[in-house]
Amino acid sequence: MAYQTLLTEISAGILTITINRPDKLNALNQQVLEELNLVLDEIYQDPVIKGTILTGSGPKAFVAGADISGFLSASSSEGSVLAKKGQDIFFRIENCPKPFVAAVNGFALGGGCELAMSCHYRIASENAKFGQPEVNLGLIPGYGGTQRLTQLVGKGRAMELMLTADMIDAAQALNMGLVNHVVPAEELIGFTRKSMEKILSKSPVAIEKVIAAVNANFDHTKNGYEEEVRLFGDCFGTEDMKEGVTAFLEKRKAIFSGK
Ligand code: COA
Repeated sequence: MAYQTLLTEISAGILTITINRPDKLNALNQQVLEELNLVLDEIYQDPVIKGTILTGSGPKAFVAGADISGFLSASSSEGSVLAKKGQDIFFRIENCPKPFVAAVNGFALGGGCELAMSCHYRIASENAKFGQPEVNLGLIPGYGGTQRLTQLVGKGRAMELMLTADMIDAAQALNMGLVNHVVPAEELIGFTRKSMEKILSKSPVAIEKVIAAVNANFDHTKNGYEEEVRLFGDCFGTEDMKEGVTAFLEKRKAIFSGK
């Protein structure tokens, strides 16, 4: 499918999505959100797509936030609708049964930081910058940032970042666990692909269940330990589990079917 604001490219089962509004630092307007929702339909439904890398166009920005230009005319209820819409899309990324990794190539501010945080993990270029500067605008994060930043870096650091609107660099983000790796800009996509290739060599059935079990920790309607027991049990009897264990016993590399 062709998109106006997203570039998509698939190779060896890895879909790379590039948010493509470089003149606006890839800010998330309504069209970007709608197209992200559409590409998520593809990711969920298309068996050819095994994993996704999300990045931004140009050397400067991953995503510099929600598009501020439409904010002045919005009412309180429209603001809530916008937040709910963004949250629902970001939940689909977070709960995607296939791995979803952010390659953060520059500014990841406001909704951009929130988008990166909805991915399963983040790899940043050395020039990446992160922040939740909404209080500068008389706003708060609305796409899950108050929750996910707190989960990722702890309450004190999350509070400070959101209350001061301070921007942090990639090294600081690495230090507080907001990103997993920092690499030179020209190596960002290659490094992220390698990380994804490693995941795709494992059992897709098990990968899906790891994502679900970890996410259960942050879902107040679930008991994460009970979910782990259930998902662990579900692995037994799958072709992937039989193949993985048999391959180990036969001292060979497993070839997983994803069933
Ligand atoms: N929404 C809409 N447009 C945005 C944007 C956003 N969140 N962030 C950047 N842009 C636009 C700018 O308006 C500018 O457009 P123009 O050339 O038509 O004037 C273009 O992107 C380039 O941005 P500019 O501000 O000129 O780049 P810079 O290098 O001087 O500054 C930033 C970069 C990221 C520091 C600055 O753009 C910024 O603070 N952006 C807003 C960040 C923010 O508050 N995000 C949270 C939103 S809730």
